[in-house]
Amino acid sequence: MAKKAVKKTGKAVKKPISTREPFKKAKKKSMHGLMKPIKLRSQAKIIPMEVRKQRNRDVILILDFGSQYTQLIARRIRESKVFSQIVPYDISMEKIKEIYPKGIIFSGGPQSVFEKNAPLPNPEIYKLGIPILGICYGMQVITHMFGGKVGKAKDREYGKAELFIDSNKDLFTNLSTNLTCWMSHGDEIAAVPPGFIKIAHTLNAANAAIANRNKKIFGVQFHPEVIHTQRGLQVLQNFAYTICGCLPRWTMDRFITASVNQIKELVGGKKVVLGLSGGVDSAVAAVLLQKAIGSKLYCVFVDNGLLRSNEAAAVVRTFKGHFKMNLHVVDAEKRFLERLKGVTDPEEKRKAIGDEFIKVFQDGAKRIKGVEFLGQGTLYPDVIESVAAHGGPTAVIKSHHNVGGLPKDMKFKLVEPLRELFKDEVRLIGKVLQMPEGVLKRQPFPGPGLAIRVIGEVTKERLEILREADERVMDEIKKANLYNDIWQAFAVLLPIKTVGVMGDQRTYENVIAVRAVTSTDGMTADWAIIPPEVLGRISNRIINEVKGVNRVVYDISSKPPATIEWE
Ligand code: XMP
Repeated sequence: MAKKAVKKTGKAVKKPISTREPFKKAKKKSMHGLMKPIKLRSQAKIIPMEVRKQRNRDVILILDFGSQYTQLIARRIRESKVFSQIVPYDISMEKIKEIYPKGIIFSGGPQSVFEKNAPLPNPEIYKLGIPILGICYGMQVITHMFGGKVGKAKDREYGKAELFIDSNKDLFTNLSTNLTCWMSHGDEIAAVPPGFIKIAHTLNAANAAIANRNKKIFGVQFHPEVIHTQRGLQVLQNFAYTICGCLPRWTMDRFITASVNQIKELVGGKKVVLGLSGGVDSAVAAVLLQKAIGSKLYCVFVDNGLLRSNEAAAVVRTFKGHFKMNLHVVDAEKRFLERLKGVTDPEEKRKAIGDEFIKVFQDGAKRIKGVEFLGQGTLYPDVIESVAAHGGPTAVIKSHHNVGGLPKDMKFKLVEPLRELFKDEVRLIGKVLQMPEGVLKRQPFPGPGLAIRVIGEVTKERLEILREADERVMDEIKKANLYNDIWQAFAVLLPIKTVGVMGDQRTYENVIAVRAVTSTDGMTADWAIIPPEVLGRISNRIINEVKGVNRVVYDISSKPPATIEWE
């Protein structure tokens, strides 16, 4: 998967791809082919005493060499209840020592170790005595740096391959002797480095997995993190549990306890203001903050008039009614509609809404006296400093806006309790915190709201037509039990009118497009195959019940090349 094509604006923590540093130039020519095998010092000197502090969780560090699967490795390790963290491949040794991981994984990557400027880690990493697992390119890096031979594979291998395990110990404990695995490589290990042995092969790759058991350094040519590799999770768990000695103790309960303590420590008795959007991230962040600091949390909910039917009321019910939070609702419909007058360009719309949001939020926050912290629902994918796989800057497709990132110039300190978590983990936290399913399983809704679904100028009347139509789409999708299987389903109001007939009368009215997609992360999406009878009910209800609409069409475009939202 390509790197994030769209960056959420304002999340200052993630460097824009265009300003990321290029791959570090190799210092000497010797790094590319002529490098001497690395000699390791004794394992006893591994990590200085001062950093051997008591940790309450084990960490597996993942060095990112630009693979499309790096996040997947992190998630698989976390599913195994071991905390994992993604860092750039050229992380300093000091930083590694500070993190004090129990194991290190080198991710795959798009390059070849032969390429000029191929990314390589600091060779000192092998002297730390921390177990290492190299995956695909990561394995080639190890082979190359330890004096083995990486060559161009006779046959490039993409897709499934039969893996024959030659040594059923450690990395391959509890596995049968052959497995189907997922390969994606053009280079292969032509000669295993001194001190290493081959522990698995395929018909095409004689050295599909290698090991140096003394030094606890392993490499696999296949991708254990993808689901197409049979028992791939077992391979990763063998590394984490058996080889690194991690315990499966990173659970959501523990996360909550630790997080609550950290928030208390950071915030003390000070006030925190948080912008609620009604989405999962800010909602879970709010409940976690409330658990830590109770009434010192002040939530601001901006009703921009661009929300779906009953949405503002539901937010008030949940957070004020159910969670008894200090909730300030700012009714800003007029301001937003005024600002959007005459605006038809999608980017201009997004920018106008983003700017207006900052102003309204700031006004709302200023009314709460003595606030020192700004709470945000920033997630892990937004803070990972990934390596740009393709080097060049990524085109801005849409400038995203959401509650989390915007008020940068406000003089607040930040508290971001979810910045270590993936979205599915946030939902698990919410479940442990007993948050209502309606909040946790809510389909994503964009920050600019219905404004980017009213194509053309946004007016109160057009918003009302869309709201009515959208309510019917949602209602039928829920009744057909499709809500949880679909990433997003919604209505879009088109800027054209078509001719129809109602009774004996000619009509000339609006068109509603229904959009429904399946996706795992919103980065790619397929149009959802909805049973025709459900589509039929949606169409009937919209045309019969929503005044001003005489035609409904279904959008059958996938992303890419289309995007999920129409603007
Ligand atoms: P696109 O339209 O880019 O959308 O395929 C991908 C996902 O992002 C959501 N989206 C947004 N979310 N602020 C958000 O928080 C935004 O400005 C924004 N724009 C799009 C969209 O609904 C889909 O889930």
